[in-house]
Amino acid sequence: MNIAIFASGKGSNFCAIVRAIKNGSLSGARISLLVCDNPHALVIRRAKQFKIKTLLVVREDFYNQVSFEQAIIQRLKAEKIDLLVLAGFMRMFSAGFVRSFPRKIINIHPALLPAFKGTKAIRDAFDYGVKITGVTVHFVDALMDHGPIILQETVRVLPQDTLSVLEKKIHTLEHQLYPQALKLVIKKKLKISGRKVVGVTR
Ligand code: GAR
Repeated sequence: MNIAIFASGKGSNFCAIVRAIKNGSLSGARISLLVCDNPHALVIRRAKQFKIKTLLVVREDFYNQVSFEQAIIQRLKAEKIDLLVLAGFMRMFSAGFVRSFPRKIINIHPALLPAFKGTKAIRDAFDYGVKITGVTVHFVDALMDHGPIILQETVRVLPQDTLSVLEKKIHTLEHQLYPQALKLVIKKKLKISGRKVVGVTR
């Protein structure tokens, strides 16, 4: 299966997925493209190291959201991409874009959705004082950090944890959970009923 990873920042999840493919735990997947909307993102350098092609698309360089998304779609078609994997891509797609890829866009979020949506989820959960938070991997629909949940795992927040300790715990979990969730999607193991993932086939 041909994957495009979408990222805007560091790319630690991008690297975790590359590693999982290289070590054989995510067989059947190939990353053909990185789509990045931030020219300064570390993930661009990381893709270069792994010899993965990058499409850099800066929203401000386009007349509107439609032309921005058209440029992305054109390249995804040219690369024959089957699955869009959002890994810290801090931008929303239009409902039309999402409709063009039904159940083909996946996202990871560093909290237990539907709690703490948005771009500062770990900090928001920490500041709220939650005792349990976690990571969610889900199919993407037209709403922000929303759609059928594929996998979700918890992280305990201990009284002595600082924000940076919690960030480390969340990222460590993300790097395990995202390859596991992608494996279920790629191997077509998910049972979906209506808007819910209701089980996993063996
Ligand atoms: C990850 O923690 C991911 O869950 C989060 O951005 C980070 C990207 O880190 N995504 C969101 O907050 C989406 N709402 P990375 O660039 O090191 O993979």
